[in-house]
Amino acid sequence: MNSSGIKRIGVLTSGGDAPGMNAAIRAVVRACAFHNVEVEGIFQGYAGLIAGDFKRLNERSVARILGRGGTILKSSRCKEFFTSEGRATAIEQMKKHHIDALITIGGNGTFTGAHILSQESGIPVMGIPGSIDNDLYGTDHCIGFDTATNTVVDAVDKIRDTATSHNRIFFVEVMGRNSGFIALKAGIAAGAIAIVLPEDEMTSEELMQILRASEESGKSSSIVIVAEGAKGGTAYELANKVAAENPDYDTRVSVLGHLQRGGAPSCYDRVISSRMGVAAVEGLLQGRKDVMIGIVNDRETYTSLEEAITRANLPNRDELRIARILAI
Ligand code: F6P
Repeated sequence: MNSSGIKRIGVLTSGGDAPGMNAAIRAVVRACAFHNVEVEGIFQGYAGLIAGDFKRLNERSVARILGRGGTILKSSRCKEFFTSEGRATAIEQMKKHHIDALITIGGNGTFTGAHILSQESGIPVMGIPGSIDNDLYGTDHCIGFDTATNTVVDAVDKIRDTATSHNRIFFVEVMGRNSGFIALKAGIAAGAIAIVLPEDEMTSEELMQILRASEESGKSSSIVIVAEGAKGGTAYELANKVAAENPDYDTRVSVLGHLQRGGAPSCYDRVISSRMGVAAVEGLLQGRKDVMIGIVNDRETYTSLEEAITRANLPNRDELRIARILAI
């Protein structure tokens, strides 16, 4: 199996953490142990790669982390890694510690760094998509997205109880600086009257029309889901515009924030993390490099890091249409 000559693999998590990252670390470490490859755990993402913050991991080091949120390797957004000096130090550290290949678990920023590192050093690099934003091309789902979406649905169900009691319109802001995946899926699952996405052009005027129509049809309370990067404005801005336009509406805003990034990973996230972790190791041992492992149509698939970061993964517009039909 291991004709690649790889004897030691480094693994790190970088960027925004996501539930299921620990399950992916566990899968990487155990797949390496299975294939007689050593693993160097790299702490604090690329910052730790530059600083040489490493610790040897074995199959027992990753016991009881499968169901834990966060990342035992910790994470960071490291500006220094985006300088050639920073990367040169990281490459020196990898050579000094005999790390033959690197697995990076993260999102778009992580893979941008990984791709440059791979190009500059020739060291085989493999990405595992971990991001609640779900915005990477080359996989149906990123690790953490399913859990985060379920967290949002649970929160919105609770908000709906109080919205109904008080006949209020709630504007719930969810994460997604550039991506509307969480907003769209959670919006459908929680029965939102309107979903405002970064990928869509909904204006406050259109939103007003939707709210007026729903009032006329007898609705006394509503939930509007707003992705944080929505073009039409933030949840606070939209709520203020709507309240200014119609002072009779009793509006409230709830920004869910970082609670969406925490918590125990769902069954789905644990399974895809486990599958991608094993396939990441086996892909490297088969000689793959500068690629991201993903799962497309239930099959492990490798996509070049360049494609993963430059091509967009967009929310399904038909789901937006369905959400609008069902919000009648
Ligand atoms: O994990 C992705 C993401 O949640 C974005 O949707 C959000 O804008 C960003 O991370 C915020 O992360 P941080 O507060 O860690 O910079």
